[in-house]
Amino acid sequence: MNYTDLLQLEKAYGSAFFILDEKQLSKNYHRFIKAFSQYYPHINIGYSYKTNYIPSLLQQMDKLGAYAEVVSQMEYQLALKCGVQANRIIFNGPYKTSSDLSYALEHQSMLHIDNLAEMQQILEIIQTRPTHSFKVGLRCNFALDDLDSRFGLCLENGDLAHAFKTLNQQPNCQVVGLHCHYTTAKRTLASFRYRAMKMVEISQQLFQDRVPAYLNLGGGIFGTMDEQMASQFDCPIPSYEEYAQAIAPIIKQAYPDAAPELIMEPGVGLVANVVHFYSKIMYLKVIRNHHYAVCSGSIFNVKPSLHKKYLSIEHMPCAENKKEASKEYYDIVGYTCLEWDTLLEKYHGTLMAGDYIKFLNIGAYSIVFKPPFIEPAPPILSLNNEQMIVVKQAETFADIFRNYSIR
Ligand SMILES: Cc1ncc(COP(=O)(O)O)c(C=O)c1O
Repeated sequence: MNYTDLLQLEKAYGSAFFILDEKQLSKNYHRFIKAFSQYYPHINIGYSYKTNYIPSLLQQMDKLGAYAEVVSQMEYQLALKCGVQANRIIFNGPYKTSSDLSYALEHQSMLHIDNLAEMQQILEIIQTRPTHSFKVGLRCNFALDDLDSRFGLCLENGDLAHAFKTLNQQPNCQVVGLHCHYTTAKRTLASFRYRAMKMVEISQQLFQDRVPAYLNLGGGIFGTMDEQMASQFDCPIPSYEEYAQAIAPIIKQAYPDAAPELIMEPGVGLVANVVHFYSKIMYLKVIRNHHYAVCSGSIFNVKPSLHKKYLSIEHMPCAENKKEASKEYYDIVGYTCLEWDTLLEKYHGTLMAGDYIKFLNIGAYSIVFKPPFIEPAPPILSLNNEQMIVVKQAETFADIFRNYSIR
């Protein structure tokens, strides 16, 4: 994509847009599966919908063979709408209604019970259907040294074992799998080794001589990133191959026949590097000795979680910028009225109005988090067989205000 291509896109779509790289997504999926298969062939991905739910991306994941990992009725409906079979949906999350639970049970989704109240709701549902048999999974919560998680059934206070026993005592219900997920700042190999070890230990304690249908170790791994980004984390960034080497042999040793399916639920680790954001510098401004480059995007497009990491960018100068502009430290700032709407701090370079900035690796927790604050969301495009297609139209005034009553 060169500057002339960007101008063409600008004519059709405006001066701020996302581009989804479907080829990169497919590469990530295959590399991940290959890395784990070397040690444990019975591996699959449950793609975390909340991370980025562009429907074309979800459909690609489904075609590649991944499960859909959802945490709400909205995401569950989306999976069905995208053509995912209900039995390919992993239903996680701390809040599910009785009707969500009934539907998922009835349609054989991989349902993970998060708490004892949910277990109670499930008991009520299955007791009304004594001739039907149901399968469920349990989300395990065991102590981890860098996070006191609130999700899942506690191992240490006995809730997990209680749920396992209670559900298995029902004549028409079977616990078939175990799940865990932790979002920690340090996504280290040591932490994943520990999680794998704990899950095996719990599985052997609960299932004893039987083998569960699956062990699901959740998401929380790093994806591929450049040196600039990697240097901002205070731990090394493992590759997929290193994660596989840390996790899979522990499962293999406990289950040499590879009988339980090993499921991983990468979100950021799978999709961060498949979406980039392009935004035009609209004008430059100096306040006292502070240089600003005001662009057509906002921090809400590239890091709405407001994390402090310095994003990687590519500067795509317009033709005029070849004339020697002076090098300054610029804050690249957004269109909102928020003082802190800074997409990139102290960029050192020769910016000019008309230049484009490409923000790299912003595919995770960006598009799904964007608030309707001040401007609607820009479009999402995707390069498909050399053709740019629109996978999400730019939001409009009507999209934002349709549910308000304007009298
Ligand atoms: C249950 C579950 N699985 C997977 C993920 C994906 O996590 P990450 O994006 O850190 O890989 C999340 C994110 O919160 C989650 O809650």
